[in-house]
Amino acid sequence: MAQRESWATRTGFILAAVGSAVGLGNIWRFPYQVGEYGGAAFLVVYLLLIAFVGFPVMLVEFSIGRYTERNPVGALKQIGKGISSKIGWVFVVAGFVILSYYSVVAGWILQYIVIGLQGNYAASGAATQFGATTGGLPSVLTHAIFMAAVIGIVALGIQDGIELSVKLMVPAIIALLVGLAVYAGTLSGAGDAYAYYLSPDLGAIASNWTEILPAAAAQAFFTLSLGMGVMITYASYLGEDRNLAKDGAIIVGLDTLIAFIAGLVAFPVLFTANLTETTDGPGFIFVSLSEAFSSIPFGGILGAVFFATVAIAALSSAISIMEVVVSYLIDEHGIARVPAVTALGIAIFLVGVPVAYDQSGSLVWLTVYDGLANQILLILGGLLLAIFVGWVQTDLGLEELSKGFRNLGSWGMVWIWTLRIPVIVLLLVVLWYNASNVYE
Ligand code: PFF
Ligand code: NA
Repeated sequence: MAQRESWATRTGFILAAVGSAVGLGNIWRFPYQVGEYGGAAFLVVYLLLIAFVGFPVMLVEFSIGRYTERNPVGALKQIGKGISSKIGWVFVVAGFVILSYYSVVAGWILQYIVIGLQGNYAASGAATQFGATTGGLPSVLTHAIFMAAVIGIVALGIQDGIELSVKLMVPAIIALLVGLAVYAGTLSGAGDAYAYYLSPDLGAIASNWTEILPAAAAQAFFTLSLGMGVMITYASYLGEDRNLAKDGAIIVGLDTLIAFIAGLVAFPVLFTANLTETTDGPGFIFVSLSEAFSSIPFGGILGAVFFATVAIAALSSAISIMEVVVSYLIDEHGIARVPAVTALGIAIFLVGVPVAYDQSGSLVWLTVYDGLANQILLILGGLLLAIFVGWVQTDLGLEELSKGFRNLGSWGMVWIWTLRIPVIVLLLVVLWYNASNVYE
C-alpha cells in the first residue's frame, strides 16, 4: 500500500485547521445567530461554550486522529467496540449535508462579488436582489462552480492541494479582513458602531435560555468545525511531536478573533449607511450589508473585496469537509484520490441542488439542511466522541494529550472530567431540546 499522506510543515496543520474553522460560520452565520437569539446574552453563552465544551471536544478529535492515523470511520472502527465502532458514520452523513448547503451559500457569495464589481448592490432593491440570487439556475450554477473549486484543490492531495492552498488563503483572509476593518474605522459611522458593538447590554435580552443554549452550542460546534470528524482527519496527518492543546488553543483563538473582526467591518458599514432596520436570518449579510455598501464611498469595490474574503474563507472550510469523506474512501476502500474526490463532489453537488434551486422565497431547504446538520448531527457527533474518550478510551486520550507537554500534570484529568460530566450532560440537554424543536 502507498504511504499515507502527511503535512509537510509544522504550520501546515495549524493553517489547515484554522482554514477549516474560519468560514461562513464566522461571517455569515454568527452575526444573524447573535441577532436572532438575544444579542449579548447569546454572546456570553457562546463564548463559555467555546471555551468549556468546544475546546475539550476539539482535543478529543485531535487525539483520536493522531492516535489512529485514520479517517474518522476507520479510526472509530479501529479503537471502538460494538456500537462505538460505528460512530464514524455520523460524520460521513454530516459531511454530505453540510458541504452540500455550504457550497450553495458560498455560491451566493460569488454572485455578490460580481454584483459589487458592477456597482449594483441593492440596484433592484436589496431584498429582491437576494431573492433572485438564491433560487433557480444562477444559484445552481454558482453552487457548481464552487464545488468544482473544492474538487480541484482536494484532488491535488494533502500537501500540494490542501496545505499549499491554505498557506495562501489563511494569510489572505486575515490581511483582507484587517484591511477592511481599518478602512471601516475611517467611515463616519464608526464611532457609533463601536459604541454599539463593544459595549453589549448584558441585561437587555434575557430571552429564553432554552433557546439560547441550543443555538449557541450549535454555533460553537459549527464555527470550530467540530462534531464531524474534520479535526480527526486533519490530525491523522500529523506527527507525534505537536502539543495538541497548544495548537487547539491557537485555532480556537483565531476563529473567535476573526468572528470579532468581521463585526468590526460590518457594524461601521451598517451605521454609516444609517441602516437601523436590518434583515435578520440568513439574508443578513446579503440584504442589509449589501444595501449598506451601496450607500457608502467606494461601496461596490469594498463590498466585492468583503465578499471575496468570505469566499476564500468558505473555500478553505469546504475543502476540510470534503477531505473527511475522501479520506474515508481512500483509507477504507482503497480508491484513488482523484476518482474519489470527483465522485463525491458530484454526489454532494446533487444533494445541494434542492437548496440551490429552492424558489420558495423563504429558504425552506436551507433551513432544513442547516437545522439537521447543526442542531442534530454535529451535536450528536460531539456527544458520542466525548463519551468515547471521556469514559471508554480515556488512556488513549491522556496519552495523546501528554505528548508535546513537558509535564501535563493533573490537567489531563481536568480535561477528562470536563468531558465526563459537564460536556456530556450539556450536549444531551442540547440534543434533547433540538430534537424536540425539529419535530415541533
Ligand atoms: N467551521 C466552518 C465555518 O465556521 O464556516 C464550517 C464547518 C467546516 C463546519 C467544517 C463543519 C465542518 F466540519
Ligand atoms: Na468558524
